[in-house]
Amino acid sequence: MRILSSGALLAGVLLALCLATAARAAGDVATGRGMARQCAVCHGLDGAAKRPDVPNIGGESDIYLKSQLEAFRSGARHHEQMTIIAQGLTDEDIAHLIAWYSAIEMTVKMPE
Ligand code: HEC
Repeated sequence: MRILSSGALLAGVLLALCLATAARAAGDVATGRGMARQCAVCHGLDGAAKRPDVPNIGGESDIYLKSQLEAFRSGARHHEQMTIIAQGLTDEDIAHLIAWYSAIEMTVKMPE
């Protein structure tokens, strides 16, 4: 009986940890907005690039943004500035940043 209840307690603790991790991994849009200030000089707070050599990232899918930030961080993709920036980001930072940038709605207008 004792073993069973401590097992149940352990299961509860593990479940709580999993839920907390899942919540963190999901990222928070408001936190991401605050963090995006460090990206704004190049990418804009709205994700619309401020320099011609910088890509737009607003409205980009979270899957793509995550894969590219992780690629810069691991060295699989290299860019003088982005590599340094991405190396300073934790998984949690990336989750918040991509929550913000992927939540932006972009509209497009094709030429006539
Ligand atoms: C100093 C300017 C600068 C800053 C600051 C900066 N970036 Fe970048 N970023 C770039 C450039 C330039 C590229 C294009 C890299 C290349 O040519 O491979 C890029 C590429 C990216 C890409 C890949 C986009 C794509 O279309 O493949 C992502 C995602 C990204 N940056 C996210 C961020 C985030 C998030 C931050 C803030 C934490 C940030 N960047 C800060 C300059 C910057």
